[in-house]
Amino acid sequence: MAGDPSRVVVLVSGSGTNLQALIDAAEDPAYGVRIVAVGADRDGIEGLKRAERAGIPTFVKPVAQFTSREHWDTALADSVATFEPDLVVLAGFMKLVGPGFLRRFPHRVLNTHPALSPSFPGMQGPADALAYGVKVTGATVFVVDEGVDTGPIVAQTVVDVLDDDDTDSLHERIKVAERRMLVDTVGRWAREGITIINRKVRFGQ
Ligand code: GRF
Repeated sequence: MAGDPSRVVVLVSGSGTNLQALIDAAEDPAYGVRIVAVGADRDGIEGLKRAERAGIPTFVKPVAQFTSREHWDTALADSVATFEPDLVVLAGFMKLVGPGFLRRFPHRVLNTHPALSPSFPGMQGPADALAYGVKVTGATVFVVDEGVDTGPIVAQTVVDVLDDDDTDSLHERIKVAERRMLVDTVGRWAREGITIINRKVRFGQ
């Protein structure tokens, strides 16, 4: 592959299985990604342990340690910027980053949401899809904007809802497809770049 790998900072809040999929993919130099740091909004989570086991630097910025949400947002952006990322990936990061954060990394923050946008935004995507009775749902990778799961869509993957699904079984099946899509999307972003015209995203410059 020509050129240096893209520098990626990943932010997590939980188990970090999406992060692990990225860590595993990045072991192959042809993937084109180097995960330079993993950040979190809470300590003691499996996501941070996964990074530590892989020898990746970590940092933690809990909202409660700051006098305002804006101060937290600035501190988080400062920590991320230290690692000079080409791309920031929110992989199960359960906080909204603010306008100040997004200005620091314009069009370079990706998030993954376990529903087919624009349906079921917010924290309860799988539960809301199940309650609504949809027959298919899935996951969406998008470029983060100032809304809640509203940014330009980079990729989507579809998952069947089964008759006997509960929220956990559905979310777990979504996550299998989500990890595959996230790995594919981050790799293509790193190797090809993206172009956004209006809301339409395509790979390539
Ligand atoms: C993913 O489904 C993500 O979309 C959602 O939370 C889950 C995180 O899973 N926001 P993990 O921490 O990567 O295992």
